[in-house]
This record gives sequence, structure tokens and C-alpha cells, in this order.
Amino acid sequence: MVVKVGIVGLGRLGKIHAENLSKKIYNCELIAATSIVDEELNWAQKELGVKYLYHDFDEMIANDEVDAIFIVSPSSFHPDQVVKALNKNKHVFSEKPLGLSVEDIQEILPVINSSSNKFMLGFMRRFDDSYRYAKEKVDAGEIGDITLIRCYSIDPSDGMKSFVNFAKNSNSGGIFSDMSIHDIDVIRWFLNSEDSGVNRVWSLGNNVAYPVLNDLNELETGAAMLQLTDDKIGMLVAGRNAAHGYHVETEIIGTKGTLRIAATPEKNLVQVMNSSGVVRPTSQNFPERFQQAFMSEEQYFIDAISNDTEIEIKAEDGLYATQVAIALQESYDSNEIINIKG
Ligand code: NAI
Repeated sequence: MVVKVGIVGLGRLGKIHAENLSKKIYNCELIAATSIVDEELNWAQKELGVKYLYHDFDEMIANDEVDAIFIVSPSSFHPDQVVKALNKNKHVFSEKPLGLSVEDIQEILPVINSSSNKFMLGFMRRFDDSYRYAKEKVDAGEIGDITLIRCYSIDPSDGMKSFVNFAKNSNSGGIFSDMSIHDIDVIRWFLNSEDSGVNRVWSLGNNVAYPVLNDLNELETGAAMLQLTDDKIGMLVAGRNAAHGYHVETEIIGTKGTLRIAATPEKNLVQVMNSSGVVRPTSQNFPERFQQAFMSEEQYFIDAISNDTEIEIKAEDGLYATQVAIALQESYDSNEIINIKG
């Protein structure tokens, strides 16, 4: 079966999903796109041959030829668009976060869970080869019991201009909902946690590097300590100012060993020896670092529709991740430790 897809949002990430869906993913045809930017729609038509172009999401989901919708619009639109698309009998892939408030997500959970159509959330790190390799080792008990997980997610300095535009045009949800949400999900995933897996959190932040972000109510650097189930420890660093590129790193310390994923964010296996010394080029942005993960998650979603298989990432994963991200923001705003449970 060829799954016919419509996409909403053709911005920083939407373009990547659109290009993959139209050129690289098997059993998939990108036939429709919605954006409020004409230039983006023209690009989709000319470069990708997308047949149906819309300014209005409701018009796209009324198209009976479309089987599945990719939601890559600003985060605040996700809950409403998920529900509307499911109600129009479409399968739905939504980018993270599922919503910007716990209440918004709780409201749509029954609709998602009672739908006979597929739903998937874009936690693409679960599809990255290195994260999957580490997860297999953890699940096989190779590092014993986890004691601490430390996660860094830092955007490159040269992404600041496009982030400022993104934050001016829409509500990112703040650095913890926008950036740390992947780390929160990864922690839950490694711990095989059925709920949020977090008892309480304390977070800090500043705009030393970009005071201009104060006016947008955003943070450039955020950090947090998380008390996890059974007194395990989580540590998060999120940022938007890595001079060396795109820095996503995860360390899992266990009773019998430690795993580090991308301890230095290398671009590939090449060393450059020149007048600067021995240089290891770094990955420069999220499309480059997670190219394989984006393609794997897209193929997984399309295959789940074609073969009617169950999707591992549930709406509840989105709920728990957002619950923790909001507690982190609340902790920063109030300068208090926030209890999530227990
Ligand atoms: P962006 O600001 O670059 O693009 C937003 C897109 O939505 C644009 O094409 C715009 O025309 C469209 N749009 C805005 N308002 C609209 C409306 N009313 N109707 C239809 N289309 C509308 O945003 P970006 O960075 O591409 O982010 C989009 C989503 O993807 C966000 O939720 C973000 O959190 C998520 N994201 C996820 C990443 C990941 O690592 N999985 C990485 C980057 C973004």
C-alpha cells in the first residue's frame, strides 16, 4: 500500500520531513502541504512535486485522497491539529511536544487512544542508531542498574537568528519544553518508566550569552537536577550557544559500567591534520546529526500504517515528557524545587 501524506509546516524541520517523505521513504507519497508562507508552498510544488497546496489546515484534512498527516507546525497548534486530523479519519504523526500544557494533552488523550487510526509522536532520538545500541546494552543489563543519567542538548550559536524568528512567531514553550523534552523522554526510555519517572526537579537558567532573549521570555542556558524513581539521578543541560556546532550528548552511569553517546559531537570518523593541529569536525545542526533518525522514524510510521502494526511511542509518552518539562520551567520561574510525585 502506498500511503498518501499531507504535511502542515514547511519550516526548519517541516522541509526535512517533506523532502524525506517525497524522495526517500518507501511506500509513501507526499501529495499535500499546508503553510502560511507562499515561498514554502512554491518550493514544495517545484522541488517535490506536491500536488495539493493549502494555506488552511482544515482544507487539507478535508481532502479524501490524504491518508496520513505530518504535523510540523508551531508547537501550540499540535493538540488541536492532532484531534482535527484523527476526526477526519487520518493517521497522524505529530512533532514534539504534543502540547504546551498538561491540561491540553490530557484533553486530547481519549481522542487519540480511542481512534482506530495510527498516532505517533516525533521522539526521533529513539530511532537514532547510537541511542538504540545503548538502549540494547542497558536492557541486556550490561551496565548493571542505572544510577545517573546526564544529558546535554545545545543548539549551535549560528542557529540563534532562526531561533529568535521561531520564538517571535510562535510560543516555543521555553527551553525545557523545546530542547530538554527529548532528554526527558530518553531518560524515561532508558529507565523503562511507565510514568514520568521523576519525583522532583530543580532548575536554573540564564541569558549571559544572549541578553536579547530576556525580551522574548526565553533562556539561552538551562540546567536541572532531577530526582528520579528509586533515588536515581538525572542531570540536564540545555542551551542555544554551542560555538563548535550541535551538541547532543548522553551519559548513562550504571553499577557495572558507563555508556556515553556522542561525548564529543563528531561529524564523522575523519581527523583533519592542519595548521590548527588535529581537528575532529563536529556536527553542525539537528538535521545533520539526526538525519538517519528522522528517516527511520518516518519509515517506521509509514510501515505501521501499511502493515497495521502497533506504534511504540504513545500519546502518554508525550504527556509525561511535557509534565516534567513544565515542572522544570516552573522551578526556574519560582526558584523552588518542584514536586512531581511522591
Ligand atoms: P518553523 O517556525 O521553522 O516553521 C513553522 C511552519 O509552520 C512554517 O512552515 C509556517 O508556515 C507553518 N505555520 C505557521 N502557522 C501556521 C498556520 N496557522 N497554519 C499552517 N501552517 C502554519 O518551526 P520548526 O522549527 O520547523 O518547528 C516546527 C515544530 O517542529 C515545532 O513544534 C518544533 O518543536 C518541532 N521541532 C522538532 C525538532 C526535533 O528535534 N524533533 C527539531 C525542530 C523542530
